Amino acid sequence: MMTREEILSELERLQPWFHRIDLGGGIFTKTESVMGEPVDHPAGPWEVIGKCIPADLAGKSVLDVGCNAGFYAIEAKRRGAARVLGVDGQRQHVRQAVFVRGALGLDIEYRRMNVYELNRRTVGQFGITLALGLVYHLKHLARRARAVPPPAARTCAITSWPRSRSSKAPRAAALRKS
Ligand SMILES: C[S@@+](CC[C@H](N)C(=O)[O-])C[C@H]1O[C@@H](n2cnc3c(N)ncnc32)[C@H](O)[C@@H]1O
Repeated sequence: MMTREEILSELERLQPWFHRIDLGGGIFTKTESVMGEPVDHPAGPWEVIGKCIPADLAGKSVLDVGCNAGFYAIEAKRRGAARVLGVDGQRQHVRQAVFVRGALGLDIEYRRMNVYELNRRTVGQFGITLALGLVYHLKHLARRARAVPPPAARTCAITSWPRSRSSKAPRAAALRKS
């Protein structure tokens, strides 16, 4: 179990944080925006995404692609998912996610992987795949489209935040399969 001082020290070392995650005891992973996102990101998108996913995920498996520091993976675990795997292409984000997992004591797998590497052989099969805030990062959309569904996907939720002059609000889209 980490002390408060150890947690604060790791939070500092692992900066910058994109996800604001409550670690308890009044400690959050971040206290300011790093790239223009709301400081409490992804609390806003989660209000939409959270409604597209069953409230009870008992026995379900969830793959979070581009998991960053693990906000959505954590929420899936808290809804009772049996298996949660978060993958992210950036080592820094996987380190953040692993640290948060330890601080919260949750059983979540994390791997550093590129979305193009995902298939049933490499990660297995999932009931639900989340690919949030990811698509606009990807150069090879057609390859991604082939990659993501096979290991998943009864439910696949995708959000996008296009830069719009008319609105600063995130635009969220969610696709739900039965
Ligand atoms: C804008 S962040 C979104 C994070 C989180 N899903 C959310 O909605 O808050 C995009 C994430 O996708 C990851 N990412 C970008 N391209 C990727 C790729 N080709 N394979 C795996 N992860 C990737 C980034 O490292 C980053 O953590």
